[in-house]
Amino acid sequence: MVNKATKPTDALIGHDAWNIQLDKNGHLKHFLTTEGLGSDMLIKILDTAESFANVNQKSVKKVPLLRGKTIVNLFFEASTRTRTTFELAAKRLSADVLNINISTSATSKGETLLDTLQNIQAMHCDMFVVRHSDSGAAHYIANNVAPNISVINAGDGSHAHPTQAMLDMFTIRRNKGENFGNLRVAIVGDIMHSRVARSQIHALNTLNTGDVRVIAPRTLLPVDIESMGVNVFHDLETGIKDADVVIMLRLQKERMTGALLPSEQEYFQLYGLTEERLLAAKDDAIVMHPGPINRGVEIDSNVADGARSVILDQVSYGIAVRMAVMTMTLGREPETDDNKENSEGGQ
Ligand code: CP
Repeated sequence: MVNKATKPTDALIGHDAWNIQLDKNGHLKHFLTTEGLGSDMLIKILDTAESFANVNQKSVKKVPLLRGKTIVNLFFEASTRTRTTFELAAKRLSADVLNINISTSATSKGETLLDTLQNIQAMHCDMFVVRHSDSGAAHYIANNVAPNISVINAGDGSHAHPTQAMLDMFTIRRNKGENFGNLRVAIVGDIMHSRVARSQIHALNTLNTGDVRVIAPRTLLPVDIESMGVNVFHDLETGIKDADVVIMLRLQKERMTGALLPSEQEYFQLYGLTEERLLAAKDDAIVMHPGPINRGVEIDSNVADGARSVILDQVSYGIAVRMAVMTMTLGREPETDDNKENSEGGQ
């Protein structure tokens, strides 16, 4: 078991080089990683998202908080959930949204990333939402944009996917309440290549989760994983025993070099989540997955579509969480809990 003393604390984090995320007043300027942000900031994101979840239930799903702002989606890597929910979030905040199609942009003619950024910046935009296959790309961009522009990391290589982690924390809080200290959360699968797992682990530990577990074959675990403040298991049923939350991860084959696994069939035999194996977790355990899911590889369809699955709720909550991060980084947070005063007639 992890000694709580080895887990990162708010006193230790929040004062490192990653904190180009905060402005001089401690407000969120960029959102690049959950690492280095304190529990107050993470809880503020969750609380702000809670107020936007109401907007998403209304018949007119729009508030004017980002009217006049221009948000640019720069996706250098494939995405379904993240790109579309960022676009919806921006539109529900009344921002103008520009989706740059990288495959048809001048990047494909050899233009450098910095030149592409400087040209888009010259169009007077306010925010870049960036997905890139290189770890560190979002930090690089944040370090090189004009001071008025905010950067949100929509996933960089195997490094970080902070808005995914925060929508996952939102999903856990909605289902299990605000006290993460009582919870056992098990993350199963390809931890080695998963930016989602890294961001989740930082967020769960910052929120003082009682027991954060990772379950994977040795070949799919980073060598220093224990230093992240997790308990490590190699057997699925032992690892998810009495878990409140089971998070399944996809095998990130596009990031694997060499043969790390015998076969997908054998992986499913050992690590695939079936209804039978899920009996080891608590009776009211929820099952999560950031998507895209690979049915029959890491999760059985009966579980993915079953009563314990909150996988599609995660997608829905992603809109509210992204609305929260966009308004916080642009300094336009809602003044009321439910945005009634800011609503454009929605009910
Ligand atoms: N969870 C996630 O990042 O999904 P997409 O790749 O579809 O955006």
